[in-house]
Amino acid sequence: MMDSAEKQLAILLEFGKVINRTKSLNEVLESMASFAREILHADRCSIFVYDKNKDELWSKVAQGCEPIRVSAKKGVAGYTALSKETQIVVDAYNDYRFNPDIDKATGYLTQTILAVPLLDNQENTIGVFQALNKSETIFTNVDAELLLLISNYAASAIENAILYDRLRDTQTKIINKLASAAEFKDQETSKHTKRVGLYSALLAEQYGLSRDNISKIELAAPMHDAGKIGIADKIMLKPDKLTPEEFEIMKTHAQIGHDLLFDEENEYLKAAALIALEHHEKWDGSGYPHGKKDEEISIFGRIVAIADVFDALISRRPYKEPWSFDKAHKHLQHNSGTHFDPTLIALFSKNIEKIHMIYQELKD
Ligand code: C2E
Ligand code: SIN
Ligand code: SIN
Ligand code: SIN
Ligand code: FE
Ligand code: FE
Repeated sequence: MMDSAEKQLAILLEFGKVINRTKSLNEVLESMASFAREILHADRCSIFVYDKNKDELWSKVAQGCEPIRVSAKKGVAGYTALSKETQIVVDAYNDYRFNPDIDKATGYLTQTILAVPLLDNQENTIGVFQALNKSETIFTNVDAELLLLISNYAASAIENAILYDRLRDTQTKIINKLASAAEFKDQETSKHTKRVGLYSALLAEQYGLSRDNISKIELAAPMHDAGKIGIADKIMLKPDKLTPEEFEIMKTHAQIGHDLLFDEENEYLKAAALIALEHHEKWDGSGYPHGKKDEEISIFGRIVAIADVFDALISRRPYKEPWSFDKAHKHLQHNSGTHFDPTLIALFSKNIEKIHMIYQELKD
């Protein structure tokens, strides 16, 4: 069990490093677009990404524009995507290839266009690089050569990003498998981990965390007990109370989880590691592994502590019967300010109806 988990982790950490390099795709494309604009003396440059399934073009970068989405069946960009050939337009409104819909929507007046296809290694269209309205004159073949040159870089940046997206999916799957490995041992259900994610996200939102942190906690909270894969079955599945020695071993799951998940270069894994480490810390400093108190515990740790205990109480465990919803709620309120952050418990109670909805929807 531990062995295969460690292998998965090694792969995961490699992915983490790769995926982080993609953060700047938009920045890369943006700087390519402004570079092209300067070199070509164009008024505007856009990079479209081709969505083959929908036969649509999405503007990844459109200077001075909201992102746009157009059918690839129409317009100069679409024509370029399908023909895979450079298109030069010298008088847009008298050109059969031109589609005036975008102008109508944006209030822009297109006069001249240069569009080159972005192709992958197999010569499939992955997008279109487009320049509009060359200053005082029309686009030339030399402009087209220059734009093609820049486009090669844009094409490989986009191609990598598409690849990374697939890796990211794989990474998410591996992480979820890891969480299920811990669940399996614990006889917890995937519904438990999902609920802990949803309760946590709700509290994070109510507390006023950023959208980014809300989605981070929703994805990372389900892994809080990943370290339980390091605990012997004899202890994990014991139907009775643990001895003090057994509980000492059990407590190591927090640090084990942290060490398994932590990756310096991946924000998502960093959050997961911090949560694993801190989810048994208590507001009054009596928790483990470090006895951190109040705001020494990160907001992530303080939130997941509540979501985890609440859900553990209403769930069946090898060592206990499920509690009722109301009894579990009362337990949280009773331990507000000792075990739990009182501000968060107040938010929990204020939103008890929403909590109840999650509970109803994801019953065991
Ligand atoms: P868990 O079952 O997921 O429980 C998570 C936390 O929920 C516990 O952290 C505790 O704070 C709270 N909790 C769960 N059940 C009860 C309960 O019946 N009464 C109260 N007052 N609180 C409860 P804790 O105590 O640090 O335990 C961590 C993990 O250690 C537990 O995760 C469970 O896997 C294991 N564990 C704890 N006590 C026992 C036990 O008596 N027997 C067995 N076999 N395992 C235990
Ligand atoms: C088109 O591709 O035909 C529209 C050009 C534009 O205004 O972006
Ligand atoms: C972290 O997990 O993000 C920092 C805390 C630690 O590494 O011990
Ligand atoms: C945050 O506070 O939003 C980041 C999590 C932390 O407290 O470390
Ligand atoms: Fe735990
Ligand atoms: Fe749990």
